[in-house]
Amino acid sequence: MIVELENVSVIRNNKYLLKDINWSIKDGEHWAIYGLNGAGKTMLLNMLNGYIFPSKGWLKVLGKTVGQYDMRRLRKSIGWVSSSIQEKFHDYSIALDIVLSGKFATVDLYDETSEEDLIYARNCLTKLDAINLADREYRTLSQGEKQRVLIARGLMAKPKLLILDEPCTGLDIIAREQLLEIIRNLSKDDNAPTLIYVTHHTEEILPTFSHTLLLKKGEVYQAGPTDEVLKEDSLSNFLEVPIVYEKSGDRILLHIDYDRHV
Ligand SMILES: Nc1ncnc2c1ncn2[C@@H]1O[C@H](COP(=O)(O)OP(=O)(O)O)[C@@H](O)[C@H]1O
Ligand SMILES: [Mg+2]
Repeated sequence: MIVELENVSVIRNNKYLLKDINWSIKDGEHWAIYGLNGAGKTMLLNMLNGYIFPSKGWLKVLGKTVGQYDMRRLRKSIGWVSSSIQEKFHDYSIALDIVLSGKFATVDLYDETSEEDLIYARNCLTKLDAINLADREYRTLSQGEKQRVLIARGLMAKPKLLILDEPCTGLDIIAREQLLEIIRNLSKDDNAPTLIYVTHHTEEILPTFSHTLLLKKGEVYQAGPTDEVLKEDSLSNFLEVPIVYEKSGDRILLHIDYDRHV
């Protein structure tokens, strides 16, 4: 088991932000999490990283019970890319140093890096089709380039779990497809980490994500094999609006059916 949650709830101000979450990820699976803004997706990820503790229930990540284990240590096995992380880096940091910092799961480079680390960091950039960015200052990178550098950073510690929280936010459709193609390739690597990909766009859910969890108002609405979960009627019920459901290649496009929507 990579991730295991049992009856996990998070309560703040007498309100359930997450409620009775039961979810597990087995080795070899890649998961997408789909839900509207405010559903609790990021909070769920923050729990996997040990930044938030459950008010009820328990969870294990990579076999360790969160709360009973040194999370700083565990976080080194978890790559994490999100827009909140994007803001943590300094304008003048060099892309390659940012990737290297992933080895220590820190923002700054506190520890010495070896020649081997440097080679590996360059390798990670190459995997992300971003080796040409190695010497660039962070502030000079476009949104898509930043994401690639940060995913390379996420790979630096050779994580067993890689969490991508809305990595395509702010990308145009071409840059988005390029990044998705890179993610698709990453997932096929022999030593690929387990991926968790969070989004509120169904068309970003690549077939490589074998499983999908629908999160609604802090609760698991449905979880299972992607082709069973991303069905027209369940998505329409999930979103509570009439939708137009379209398959394009191996992706699903959704929009509101304005003819039926009042
Ligand atoms: N630390 C917190 N204390 C109280 N409420 C929070 C906290 N963090 C997030 N929330 C609330 O929890 C809900 C879920 O937020 P979030 O996980 O960011 O949603 P998503 O990532 O699905 O858009 C939101 O209503 C948000 O305002
Ligand atoms: Mg979020």
